[in-house]
Amino acid sequence: MTDQPYLVPAIVRDPLPDPESVGEDADLVAAIRNEITERGPITFARFMERALYEPGHGYYRRPETGPGRACADFLTAPEAHPIFGAAIGLLVAEAWAAMGSPAPFRILESGAGTGALAAGLLAGLRDTGSPLFDAVRYVPDEVEASRLPAFRARLTAEGLADRLAEDAGAAGADAPWAGAVAANEVLDALPVHRVIGRPGGLRELLVTVNEDGAFIHVEAEPTTPALAAALEAEDVHLADGEITEVCLGIDAWLGRVTAGLARGLVVLVDYAAEPASLHGAARPAGTLRAFARHAVGGDPFRHVGRQDLTATVDLAAVRASAARCGLDPVGETTQAELLARAGTTALTTTYLHRPGAGLEDAIALRSALVRLLDPRGMGAFRVLVFGRGLPPDLRLPVLDRVTRP
Ligand SMILES: C[S@@+](CC[C@H](N)C(=O)[O-])C[C@H]1O[C@@H](n2cnc3c(N)ncnc32)[C@H](O)[C@@H]1O
Repeated sequence: MTDQPYLVPAIVRDPLPDPESVGEDADLVAAIRNEITERGPITFARFMERALYEPGHGYYRRPETGPGRACADFLTAPEAHPIFGAAIGLLVAEAWAAMGSPAPFRILESGAGTGALAAGLLAGLRDTGSPLFDAVRYVPDEVEASRLPAFRARLTAEGLADRLAEDAGAAGADAPWAGAVAANEVLDALPVHRVIGRPGGLRELLVTVNEDGAFIHVEAEPTTPALAAALEAEDVHLADGEITEVCLGIDAWLGRVTAGLARGLVVLVDYAAEPASLHGAARPAGTLRAFARHAVGGDPFRHVGRQDLTATVDLAAVRASAARCGLDPVGETTQAELLARAGTTALTTTYLHRPGAGLEDAIALRSALVRLLDPRGMGAFRVLVFGRGLPPDLRLPVLDRVTRP
């Protein structure tokens, strides 16, 4: 598996921007320093929360941040090509049919960004003539509300805006609903704690400032017993000096986005791994990575507020969290398998037979597929599918080669 899963440069026409040019958010740096000066060292999760989510300053809370070449920090699968969204749409359509085709059928997408997944999914349903298209009410759930006008504009430009739910600004609906929840590359942005193994037991890496005002790590007693409990639950024992991340925020996020889901599917796609490959000699420093302008950096304390911070998602932690949220496992696969099973050929044919499609579309599709299917890159992203209130014998052909936990 690659250590640089997100390093997926767009088709290069201009030189990639210089990562050093992004600088840092000086106000945010000062605010975090103040918090540490006033209250003492903070957890890395708190640092990451502010670096990514501080309103107006955090990496995800600046309107201009996002995938794609314009922002030039990373390119996600839905941004790479609409065929990814179309494949997710096929998976959802299979579940919808197995549920007896309820209408309306709400699709809540968390981390909807600028609408790439929504556009691919909805256009895929429309262009393949899926009867689900008419039943869909799409709900973008986005931590940065200022991205929603761009989301709506994108769907409008593609003639898909009438598929938006009337209450599209709200994550949930008052009444429980039948539908699906989808999220691509959201779990890996949830703040993580950093812990380190020591002979005397687990220690936590907190964040403090040195005499020059620079952020540095300091070891301390774990701030919550939940950290040791999370590792214990997975039978993980860190060697002396081994660092790993623990995300304690999955329950809250998954509980929130599935709160209104009475019956339906949950599809989570992310760069993820089993605990066994997240720990041990191969990963002595953990999986935390920083991304600025397509460059992977190891230092989370640089470019504060201007670089993405992510950690590989722990599959066992997500499964456990899903169980606590009352979700049943439906199946798991990889992004490459999903695309293959979803009938990439059929989707490709549909896509290339749209009115106006030409040679450029064929070339773009081909180059995107190389990236999306790459087993050492995006193709290895994991697709986790859960359900609530679904028929127990549910079988989704798109997930035929499933591995059940
Ligand atoms: C890596 S981008 C992925 C965007 C889109 N899902 C895609 O695949 O192109 C993460 C997106 O999720 C949003 N986001 C991050 N954490 C979130 C959360 N806890 N709830 C809702 N949205 C979130 C960010 O603002 C950003 O738009």
